[in-house]
Amino acid sequence: MNYSRLTQRIAGEGSAAWDIHIQALQRRARGEDVTILSVGDPDFDTPAPIVESAVESLRAGHTHYPDMQGKLALRQAIAAQYRELGVSDVVAENVIVLHGAQCGLYAVAQCLLDPEDEVVVPEPTYVTYEAAIKATGARISQVPLSPDDDFRLRLEALEAAITPRTKALMLNSPHNPSGQIIDRATWEGIAELCHRHDLWLVSDEVYADLVFDGEHLCPATLPDMAKRTVVVNSLSKSHAMTGWRLGWVMAPHGLIGHLFNLSLCMLYGCPSFLQDAALEALRRPPAALEEMKAAYRARRDTVCRSLADSSLVSAVCPAAGMFLLVDIRRTGLSAKAFSQALLDDYDVSVLSAEAFGPSGAGFVRLSLTVDEALLIEACRRLLACAERYARPSIDT
Ligand SMILES: Cc1ncc(COP(=O)(O)O)c(C=O)c1O
Repeated sequence: MNYSRLTQRIAGEGSAAWDIHIQALQRRARGEDVTILSVGDPDFDTPAPIVESAVESLRAGHTHYPDMQGKLALRQAIAAQYRELGVSDVVAENVIVLHGAQCGLYAVAQCLLDPEDEVVVPEPTYVTYEAAIKATGARISQVPLSPDDDFRLRLEALEAAITPRTKALMLNSPHNPSGQIIDRATWEGIAELCHRHDLWLVSDEVYADLVFDGEHLCPATLPDMAKRTVVVNSLSKSHAMTGWRLGWVMAPHGLIGHLFNLSLCMLYGCPSFLQDAALEALRRPPAALEEMKAAYRARRDTVCRSLADSSLVSAVCPAAGMFLLVDIRRTGLSAKAFSQALLDDYDVSVLSAEAFGPSGAGFVRLSLTVDEALLIEACRRLLACAERYARPSIDT
């Protein structure tokens, strides 16, 4: 039997990237003591008041077909947040509630891109972007982020990738996997590029609430940018709600209409009780959110300190988010081989950053999703692994 050509476009390196993580999960399921640092899933429980509001909503019988664009009160609360950030004129009609940011990215790609289009994406890139874009038939034009520059996005590199076929820029700040944030001057330059080349700007902001140094800027707040900016966000990371699958897109009204049609033929809306919980999360942000953020920051500092004295590996200290890249190039091993050795011999799973793009070669991504004691031990093992496998340098 034959399948559609789409099935070819959505299968690829992106799904293979999770191999190590799957091995780690399988070992843990067999009862082995494995420290899993290979996924961005918060180790915190969803704050209790959010859980309670979902339960209350279920008990109140909110188990029928939902409002398909998203409950008005929830969309109003989301719009109000963007107005507070400085996106003028944004209202509930500019918002659609979808099943997580991932669903948002896929839906946005479907509604913006055609096979003749190109999308400019910095790499390393969060692994699912490739399939989400390729599903549309559009081409991805990658902008390498240099390890020598701690993976910061440079305007000149972005500009150089733009061609007459470019339809959109797809940017993620704070960035997964590097944890870098795009600064205001760069955003202003990006806005100018978007105006000059008449581009859409898709802004994936799932780590926006987890900034430790500097500040997050939503590009829709820049002059005249709201009409061409599509913001994708969710409660997954900020509220420890990865399993709830609750996110949204904030965009010009016309695009929301198309996303609505797509949602109608695929999802038929997001369950009402999840939306009620999301509304509670936004209306009364629990104190636990600040505590989680403080914990990620402390963990980041702990890992950077633990690796600081090594002559073999070094951490790229992230400004935000829940990940940290470790440079293992001096061991002489590929990131894939290093990750496999770390799991096989030291029971710690990390991801090869090369799975996020060729510029990630020689780096592994470690998640800050276990407590500090476990992180200190994981760093000790990572250093031991580096010592054990490092090839002697030619000069010694
Ligand atoms: C950069 C980035 N975008 C989107 C997502 C997907 O988020 P969600 O759980 O809201 O679908 C992730 C998840 O790890 C991510 O890292």
